Amino acid sequence: MYAQVVALRLRVLRAPLGLGFTPEEIAAEAGDICVVACEGESPVACLLLVPVNSEEVRMRQVAVDPDRQGEGIGSSLVAFSERIARERGFRHMTLHARETAVRFYLKAGYESLGEPFEEVTLPHRKMQKWLI
Ligand SMILES: CC(C)(COP(=O)(O)OP(=O)(O)OC[C@H]1O[C@@H](n2cnc3c(N)ncnc32)[C@H](O)[C@@H]1OP(=O)(O)O)[C@@H](O)C(=O)NCCC(=O)NCCS
Repeated sequence: MYAQVVALRLRVLRAPLGLGFTPEEIAAEAGDICVVACEGESPVACLLLVPVNSEEVRMRQVAVDPDRQGEGIGSSLVAFSERIARERGFRHMTLHARETAVRFYLKAGYESLGEPFEEVTLPHRKMQKWLI
């Protein structure tokens, strides 16, 4: 399942930019929480939760299969992940949103912080939500 999730992330997030994942990047995920939406045995959406400290958890690598975007899967996955984070005691969700996805996170209750910056060749914004 994890290999399929990495393949989905590669297809949605990295290959369109001409990028891949290094073995070091994959190895560094060992302690992260991987949240997956499946149809049968196949992942259709996924994200990672990365504990930063006892209060803060960072959401990253949010990817929905291009054939299934716009169906509410991304917002359901984010809401489910917030529940998981809350249950594990985290109170503060942070993320680096691609500029093209900022409105998606605003709709999910996130606020944008500070100036745009570049990551993986694209403009991003830092965003956050307090989990109450
Ligand atoms: C961005 C992404 C995660 C959204 O997931 P999704 O399943 O397509 O989104 P949903 O169907 O749950 O949409 C929820 C709401 O956000 C809106 N929305 C979704 N993607 C949006 C976008 N890129 N820009 C603006 N609004 C968006 C939807 O219109 C919907 O609004 P509504 O509630 O008023 O109908 C998904 O489209 C995706 O994987 N995109 C490519 C990779 C990417 O950009 N990932 C995020 C990296 S930070």
